[in-house]
Amino acid sequence: MKLLYFSIVFFLFIGCNNSEKQPPTQDKTLTIEANTVKEDRFRESYRPQYHFTPPEKWMNDPNGLLFYNDTYHLFYQYYPDDIVWGPMHWGHATSKDLIKWKHKPIALYPDKLGYIFSGSAVMDINNTSGLGTKDNPPMIAIFTYHLMEGEKAGRKDYQTQGIAYSLDEGETWTKYEGNPVIGNETNIKDFRDPKVIWHKASNKWVMSLVAGDRAKFYSSPNLKDWTLMSEFGKDKGAHGGVWECPDLFPLAVSGSEETKWVLFISTNPGGPNGGSGTQYFVGDFDGTSFTTDQKDIKWLDYGTDNYAGVTYNGLPDSTRTFIGWMSNWNYGQQTPTEVWRSAMTLPRKLTLIKNENDYLLKSYPIETINEYSYEATTHKAIKHTMSISSKNFNEMRLDFTIPGELDDFQINFTNTKENSLKIGYKKESNTFFIDRRESGKVSFEPRFAEAIHTAPGIQTTTKDMTYSIFMDASSIEFFVNGGEVVMTEHIFPDTPYTKMTFTNNGEEAIVPLKTSKIKRIWD
Ligand code: FRU
Repeated sequence: MKLLYFSIVFFLFIGCNNSEKQPPTQDKTLTIEANTVKEDRFRESYRPQYHFTPPEKWMNDPNGLLFYNDTYHLFYQYYPDDIVWGPMHWGHATSKDLIKWKHKPIALYPDKLGYIFSGSAVMDINNTSGLGTKDNPPMIAIFTYHLMEGEKAGRKDYQTQGIAYSLDEGETWTKYEGNPVIGNETNIKDFRDPKVIWHKASNKWVMSLVAGDRAKFYSSPNLKDWTLMSEFGKDKGAHGGVWECPDLFPLAVSGSEETKWVLFISTNPGGPNGGSGTQYFVGDFDGTSFTTDQKDIKWLDYGTDNYAGVTYNGLPDSTRTFIGWMSNWNYGQQTPTEVWRSAMTLPRKLTLIKNENDYLLKSYPIETINEYSYEATTHKAIKHTMSISSKNFNEMRLDFTIPGELDDFQINFTNTKENSLKIGYKKESNTFFIDRRESGKVSFEPRFAEAIHTAPGIQTTTKDMTYSIFMDASSIEFFVNGGEVVMTEHIFPDTPYTKMTFTNNGEEAIVPLKTSKIKRIWD
């Protein structure tokens, strides 16, 4: 489906512009870059109020997540001319705390080697690349070039890897003249999404890349010359679709001295509830190969809308912070927004736990979101049910614990337009669920609301579980037990939800529930 789309866009693109694209002298994003204080700024319907969105036009994957000099950089797949996918650029934003963002000018433009697909960024502190100096080390972006002319001609080698460098902390970029740094000799057409890390133990750069149905690992002393070391995954994990956006990183196992390596692989289609999804493997990496004993398929998020997510480079090894694209290729280009399209998930802290002989990855919003939460109110249930009204549940969070053994429960968010969004748990099937089939606008694409979405129950305990729900104008993020089970979903209510009805069949009647508002980030 997406390939077909790539091709349609290609014809449109070729039709109007076949030359190397240069930054326009009057860059559109520059005019809105200054975060102008305006009351109605970013108040369009469905505009998330505390999730990252581009000021306008199309966005998909997060790219080049890098922390440097007290600043978080977020680059992202961006098409500045339309609200559907098109010739890819890297958009750019920065933040001091990962919640409040400043939009920056476009970082990377397509050139004669192709569109700029997903990838990563590193600080080359020791100037191994020679593209900066020891005193002013380069920031380096490593990305995939997608040459539409090649795809159109029926060739298979149209994806290659390139690099670009910035000597002013990401403000301006120069493409490396020796690009591509990895040509496509493999003739595998899906050959993309380089994630580069510095591998301390062997003193070299390590790149994870995907090639169709597997990941490949390369190494380099200088980010320019790369050697293939190994591959992984042809016979492992979920293969419902092409593999995309790998991310390989070490993570300490909570409460132990052990460190494991985690490999993320996004796959589209083949996600747990249809379309796009991100799986993870827990194993070991010896500087050359990634290995794992894992037999089952593990999903980072069971909701339909957390894709192509990766983690930050440049943070201490003890912390892993993740951001995903909060959409799905099944319908991402049809969602009912006009000025911009799609958002990023809340940034999430990753923790690895060991449960018997199994490793589980938890993901939960970073603590900073607490600083944006205010007007907390605690509500108590009467006889296993409660109803709460609010002016706008869509800019709120809910935190609660269900005491005792878990039994069926349901939270139903409703509004004056009779929309209903249901979230809960079914004991019979031991599944959590989100039912957005009547949640508001759902008919823009049949696959958006064709089924109830489910996630398996918790493995580590059967009682006293904690829950958090973060709702924004067009999303819901549901976390069970600090992120042991997660569901992230797009929603488009006709008006904000104003009532919440909670029913709980559990043994204990009282469900203390805290609601808090969340400050908007755009003023
Ligand atoms: C994932 C993806 C990547 C690719 C990019 C193109 O959503 O398909 O594999 O680099 O999007 O925009």
